This record gives sequence, C-alpha cells and structure tokens, in this order.
Amino acid sequence: MSQVFPSVIITGTGSYLPKNVVTNDDLAKIVDTSDEWIRSRSGIHERRFAEKDEATSHMATAAAEKAITAAGIDREEIDLLIVATMTPDMPFPSTACLVQSQLGLGNITAFDLQAACSGFIYALNTGSNMLRSGAYKKVLIIGADKMSSILDFEDRSTCVLFGDGASAAVLEISEETNCGILGGTAGSDGSNPNLLYQPAGGSAQPASLKSVESREHFIRMNGKEIFKQAVRVMGQVSTDILNCYDYETEHIDLLIPHQANMRIIESLAKRMRLPMEKLHNNLDRYGNTSGASVGLALDEAFRNGRIKSGELVLLVAFGAGLTWGATLIKWH
Ligand code: UT7
Repeated sequence: MSQVFPSVIITGTGSYLPKNVVTNDDLAKIVDTSDEWIRSRSGIHERRFAEKDEATSHMATAAAEKAITAAGIDREEIDLLIVATMTPDMPFPSTACLVQSQLGLGNITAFDLQAACSGFIYALNTGSNMLRSGAYKKVLIIGADKMSSILDFEDRSTCVLFGDGASAAVLEISEETNCGILGGTAGSDGSNPNLLYQPAGGSAQPASLKSVESREHFIRMNGKEIFKQAVRVMGQVSTDILNCYDYETEHIDLLIPHQANMRIIESLAKRMRLPMEKLHNNLDRYGNTSGASVGLALDEAFRNGRIKSGELVLLVAFGAGLTWGATLIKWH
C-alpha cells in the first residue's frame, strides 16, 4: 500500500536587496575589467553590495519579515527556521539563531544549512520534508549571502560575478491534494572541492597572518569547469525530476534557474529545448547572490504575476561542493 504524504505549499515569499547599486563601470574603476566584458561574458549589468555593518542575518531577517507578511501568519506560529548561507555572520552561533532572535521567534528549532548556491533548494527540500514528517507545522526557510564579504577585489575573474541579497519562503501543510511541492531532489560531489572554494578561515587552515597576506579568505574558482558542470548537471537533474513525476519539458510553465551566468542559463534552456520566455531571470540586476539567488527570482516572479495557480514551476541550482538540486512545484 503506497503512503500518501500531505501537500506542502509555499504560502509566502519575500526578499531583500541592499540599497547600494554597484554597476560594472563602478567595478571597472577598481579592477581591470569593462562593462562590455562583464555583460557579454556573464549577462550581469549591476549588483547590490551590503553596507559594512549590514550582515547576512540582517538581510535574512528583512527578507523573512516580508515572507511572513505575505503568508499572513503570526510569527509565533513558525516552529522551524532553516537559513542556507555560505557567508554566516560568524562561524558560530549559527546565522539561524541570530535571525531567530532578530525576528523574535521564540525558542524554536533553528539551524544553518551550507550548500552554497544550491542552498535555497536544499532548504526548501529539507523544510518541506520536515513538515511532511509531522514534526513541524510552519517552516520558514531563508537563503542569504553577503558575497561581497568574501570577494577578492584583485581577482577580476570572480569579483565581478557576485552580489548580496536574501530571500525567504514560508512553508505550510495544505489540505488540497496534487498541488504544492511535488518533490525535490539534491546531490553532491565533494571529490574536487577546489573548483570553487574559500581556502582559509576553517579548521583546515585557520586565520593567520600568512592566510590573510596570501588572500586565502576570498573565493577561488575554476570558472570554465564550473560552467561546463553547471550546464550538464542542472540539465540532468531537471530532466530526472520531471521524469520522476511523469512530466515532460513542454509541461513546464516556468523554470527558475540559479542566477550565475546568462550563458549558463541559455545553454541550459537550449539543452532542455525550452524557450527563454519560460525562464525567469534577474541576474542582470543582482548578479550571483548564491544561496539567495533562486528564492530572489521566485519571489520576483510570483510578485510580478508570472506564476499562477495550477502552473508547473521548476527550480534548479548548482554550486560549490559541488552541490545541486531541483524542486518541482504545482502552484496552489
Ligand atoms: O554559482 C556557481 C558559481 N560560478 C559560476 O557559475 C561561474 C561559472 N563560470 C563562468 O561564469 C565563466 O567561466 C566566467 C564568467 C567566470 C569566465 O568566462 P569565460 O568565457 O570562461 O572567460 P575566461 O575565463 O576564459 O577568460 C577569458 C579572458 C581571459 O583573458 P585571456 O587569458 O584570454 O587573455 C581572462 O583573463 O577574459 C579575461 N578576464 C577578464 N577580462 C576582463 C577574466 N575576467 C575578466 C574580467 N574583465 N572581469
């Protein structure tokens, strides 16, 4: 006898972007690059950088406030908080604990999850499964990253690609059947961690004068390899999850991919034989906001009326780890 799991729906989304807009021309003043190179190689026109005293938890809290309002619930009802971030305020306590306090959520379960750019999808899948288990009733998930805090402004191949931001969603059980989060999948391959990483600041290489002088607290990336793998893996995981729920590419109403590079997104669309009109992108305005990326695009698409009841929405991401994931949603 097959078990019937309750439906999980997203009842509210929210996002936060710092006010400070940094254009490609602004970056060209501090690093050897140009607006033309950045636009043509990545599709990014500008990004937001947080203030010095604005930490990941502050952005996360602001996004969460909007998601809670959109869901129309009392914050006291939330009993689980997951924050996906690779730029926590500090190694410990978790950013989730800081957000829990800033939001005044009471002594609920709160923890961080680290899956880099796949973070929002990992949090969405984890949160919805914890709801389905019956252990929790209302879940708040957040993807937030202050990428500017780990960018090397002497490395033009990485510093032009990333931005800061936060996104959030409230998840709840629904009485309706055949709608909501149909399913999620996620994977990882840690066999080649140096493709995208921050060498120092952890237990393997604690902060030292040498680690600071050799700029090892900043992002390092093999862009070409990440590019190839991102297209291949996001294509595969998208096809796999559609097959799993007996859907074809043509059934997708909206695909929301991780916002890393417009050429990656275009290659993904081509590989899936999906017209670009079926994708929602905001990479041009915000750059790669890592854990916030998919949630930012989801919130924007929903608020702009691009997602309607009954539509099939596919979220897909890829990031450091390597990690990847996808979530298939039939919007309620
Ligand atoms: O969330 C996952 C995180 N990361 C990604 O998804 C990034 C994946 N990778 C990429 O997006 C692309 O590989 C990049 C945008 C990083 C690079 O694009 P590319 O077409 O692979 O360029 P490239 O690395 O082959 O560099 C081409 C040239 C090089 O010059 P030479 O050696 O041909 O003379 C670079 O030095 O462009 C140069 N270059 C730049 N020039 C101006 C690299 N960065 C810059 C820059 N401005 N910012």
